[in-house]
Amino acid sequence: MSNQERVLKFHIFRYNPQKQGDKPRMVTYEVTEAPGMTIFIALNDIREQQDPSLQFDFVCRAGICGSCAMVVNGQPTLACRTLTSKYEDGHIKLLPLPGFELIGDLSVNTGKFMRAMSERVESWIHDINSDEVNFEKLEERMDPDVADEIYELERCVECGCCVSACATKRMRPDFLSAVPFRM
Ligand code: FES
Repeated sequence: MSNQERVLKFHIFRYNPQKQGDKPRMVTYEVTEAPGMTIFIALNDIREQQDPSLQFDFVCRAGICGSCAMVVNGQPTLACRTLTSKYEDGHIKLLPLPGFELIGDLSVNTGKFMRAMSERVESWIHDINSDEVNFEKLEERMDPDVADEIYELERCVECGCCVSACATKRMRPDFLSAVPFRM
């Protein structure tokens, strides 16, 4: 092992609510750090080399889809955009985002919340000529001027980090949090 390499200790929340008798617990895994390693890369390493049952989500690996959000050392963030080198003592604690339904381990159902919130605030471009709400209908083409107008707001990747960091959301399940206000 070269001087630059170090062994990281990942303390990961494990719990499968679908498995009868399973209990929430923290499990520690050791991973040898590689240059440019992200939390996402380390998690893949753990799943491939040590424990194929570890559950976590990802799609794009580039900070675009928002699927890999989790709590890293107390802070909600994207695992694919977080370098392990940021954590000087080499201890990294991973928890699922609070405030969402737990699927298992680090995987949560943010989609259910986002859809319910969207339907509640009707976060779509309304047709001013009709009151009809039909989720099955093909969307109208968006006018380029409208697309320009909502561009900044549409950059939210719906990762759920802001929702999970919101104490009010945890006390009041009907609280919408910051998400709808970017729409
Ligand atoms: S995997 Fe898509 S944002 Fe991280």
